[in-house]
Amino acid sequence: MIHFKYHFLLITIFLMSACERKPNIVIPPKNNACDTSNITYSGKVKPILTANCYSCHSDSTASTNGGIDLENFVELKNYMDLHFRLDTSYGSQFYNICNQTIGTKSMPPSYKMSACEIRTIKIWIDAGALNN
Ligand code: HEC
Repeated sequence: MIHFKYHFLLITIFLMSACERKPNIVIPPKNNACDTSNITYSGKVKPILTANCYSCHSDSTASTNGGIDLENFVELKNYMDLHFRLDTSYGSQFYNICNQTIGTKSMPPSYKMSACEIRTIKIWIDAGALNN
């Protein structure tokens, strides 16, 4: 009987210590992680424009929104070639509009794109805004 009690005590201690054990630490992915690898027009930029801009600036919607057709790559490129604002660097007006920099138009008009989306567009412009 003493034997049984002894075992019972050991099992109880074991179970109690098991309960105290901390769960394995899992490092959660950072919320602000932004994958800036392999930024191409077709792979990353076009999907951003599709989601945020085409409701007003696609081939079919542009005519009623300032005539700016962002679905047409040549037009998008021409816009960046010809329009500068706040600074004279290539694509600056387009970038500043996307970044909603004070002193420029804010696009999309009703909200601001995520920092990652804006950064992705900037990296693509700085690399020459290629049709890749
Ligand atoms: C809800 C409709 C709407 C959405 C969404 C929208 N735009 Fe616009 N955008 C307009 C309208 C309307 C104009 C023309 C009137 C004006 O200039 O304010 C315009 C004008 C522009 C211009 C020309 C500005 C100039 O003066 O040179 C650019 C560039 C532009 N938009 C980029 C974008 C981009 C990039 C997005 C997505 C990130 C976007 N827009 C999303 C409605 C929209």
